[in-house]
Amino acid sequence: MSYENIIVRSENNVAIINLNRPKSLNALNAAMVAELGKAFDEIAADPQVKAVVITGEKNFAAGADITDMVELNPEEAFAFAFSPVFNRIANCPKPVIAAIEGFALGGAMELALCCDIRIAAAGAKMGFPEINLGIFPGAGGTQRLPRLIGPSKAKKLIFTGSIVKGEEALSLGLVDILAENPSEEATKLAGELAGKASVALKLAKECINVSADVDLNTGIAYEATEWARLFATADQKEGMRAFIEKRKASFVGK
Ligand code: CAA
Repeated sequence: MSYENIIVRSENNVAIINLNRPKSLNALNAAMVAELGKAFDEIAADPQVKAVVITGEKNFAAGADITDMVELNPEEAFAFAFSPVFNRIANCPKPVIAAIEGFALGGAMELALCCDIRIAAAGAKMGFPEINLGIFPGAGGTQRLPRLIGPSKAKKLIFTGSIVKGEEALSLGLVDILAENPSEEATKLAGELAGKASVALKLAKECINVSADVDLNTGIAYEATEWARLFATADQKEGMRAFIEKRKASFVGK
């Protein structure tokens, strides 16, 4: 499928999504978010795609499109919200990596929070400046950010709207890896993940995502069920037999 606000291509079992509204620093409008939703539906259904990278040329994105929001009333703002699509991205059954250069602000940083791993350039500028617009992050930021970096650090970032660069973002835990070329690094890591046992990877992601929402015992019970299910997969047999036969496993994703 072709899109107007994003560019999607696939190479070596990795889908690479480029946010593409350069005139407004890739600001996310409703059309772009709807396209992201469609792209992720296709990715989820495509057995050839094993991992995903989201990135943007020069800038990840400067947040939600302010020109589209300025005159909204509360009902319209509720309808404009990105969370339904962002939740689908967070729950994508394949690993998703954000590669961040330039600005990643507001809704764009909330999109990055939906990804499993964030790789940023040292000079990338990240933050949640919504407070300076008289609002707060409304695309999952008040929920995902404290779960990722802790409530006080999340409050400091959201209350002040301050922008942090790569090193500080790394020490806060906002990003996981700093790289000279985040897109290249993310594509390399996604390629490595594409070669793993994809059912195990999908269920591991599910268990880790569930851990944010449930108490420890419920999470461990959930894990036990999902873990046992893996023993019905060809990849579990292949992985363990390959170890015993001292050869490299060749996974089929089943
Ligand atoms: N929405 C709409 N347009 C935007 C935009 C945004 N979020 N961010 C940048 N642009 C546009 C600018 O209006 C400008 O357009 P024109 O050339 O037509 O004037 C163009 O992109 C380039 O931007 P600047 O000239 O401002 O570039 P700069 O380098 O001087 O500044 C910046 C860059 C600091 C990122 C600045 O553009 C900025 O502060 N942008 C807004 C960031 C922001 O507040 N994001 C949060 C949005 S709210 C949100 O995301 C809500 C939510 O939770 C879902």
